[in-house]
Amino acid sequence: MRVLITGGSGFVGQALCRRLEEAGHRLLVVSRDPDGVRDRLPAGTDIRRSVLDFVDTPPDALVNLAGESIAARRWSDAQKERLIDSRVNITRDLAMLCEQLTATRGRAPSVMVSASAMGFYGDQGERLVTEDTPPHDEFAHRLCARWEEVAGEVTTFGTRLAILRLGLVLDAGGGTLQKMLPPFKLGLGGRFGHGRQYMPWVHRQDLVSMILFLIERDDLDGPFNGSAPNPVTNAEFTRSLARHLHRPAMLPVPALVLESAFGEMSRLLLTGADMRPRRLEEAGFVFRFPTLDEALDDILG
Ligand SMILES: NC(=O)c1ccc[n+]([C@@H]2O[C@H](COP(=O)([O-])OP(=O)(O)OC[C@H]3O[C@@H](n4cnc5c(N)ncnc54)[C@H](OP(=O)(O)O)[C@@H]3O)[C@@H](O)[C@H]2O)c1
Repeated sequence: MRVLITGGSGFVGQALCRRLEEAGHRLLVVSRDPDGVRDRLPAGTDIRRSVLDFVDTPPDALVNLAGESIAARRWSDAQKERLIDSRVNITRDLAMLCEQLTATRGRAPSVMVSASAMGFYGDQGERLVTEDTPPHDEFAHRLCARWEEVAGEVTTFGTRLAILRLGLVLDAGGGTLQKMLPPFKLGLGGRFGHGRQYMPWVHRQDLVSMILFLIERDDLDGPFNGSAPNPVTNAEFTRSLARHLHRPAMLPVPALVLESAFGEMSRLLLTGADMRPRRLEEAGFVFRFPTLDEALDDILG
């Protein structure tokens, strides 16, 4: 199968590309810097600058992961626009590719798996959150809702759409964990604020398996919560990470400190949702790393 991946050079994309390559699929990757990312991707990956450059090489499946990192810098109005545009523009290109392939070849790719995030639900306090839970209106929700809405345009061309609302993706060599490790290794880790906010998380290998599962299962569409079945609070995450590193984690970071350092972006650290992967579990998806201890054992050794 030919699989086109936006954001294939990223933390999730690289692991996905390795797995797809091992399974014998052809990889088409969209990157702003094809030469710069070549050595992060399997040999033979066809890397081009724009989604629409692939109109002569029609993919069977699309995976949409690209976007400016949500925690790259403080959420000024200009940065909020970058966060939205970096996702919406490339997602719209995918819908245009579907339109052009329908016009020229009579058929669009059969499926698109498109990333979204737990931020779709906004701050949910201690409520249990499934795909049916009404969102709390705030910037993270509006960003994800717009991203999902534009992704929905591919269905006009008969492409099946599965949306994965991702929790925190955990693995070695990147993502949030890599940023958390240095202070924790120095024994300077601690919970954020009161620590009762939920942090849904997922092992990167399980996330890659979810993407493959959603590509293969042509009876599945719509939104899916992409996180492990046992989310933890920030305080539990902190304790568990410290235990795995054999270090203390006794230095809580007060909410006020985070709010003044990061402004509105501090909501990423101070709020959360007890998100459960109800639809994936109902569909029979089996997690290799269902608990945080199992995931951290694997990642930290
Ligand atoms: N990792 C997590 O914990 C997590 C949690 C929830 C949701 N997500 C979402 O899942 C997706 C994949 O996550 P990830 O961790 O793999 O992301 P990532 O490592 O930050 O990579 C995403 C890719 O997006 C492209 N990109 C970055 N900035 C861009 C911009 N301004 N305009 C256009 N493209 C840009 C880059 O590709 P090129 O440089 O090659 O163009 C990058 O490799 C992201 O959209 C992310 O928001 C991730």
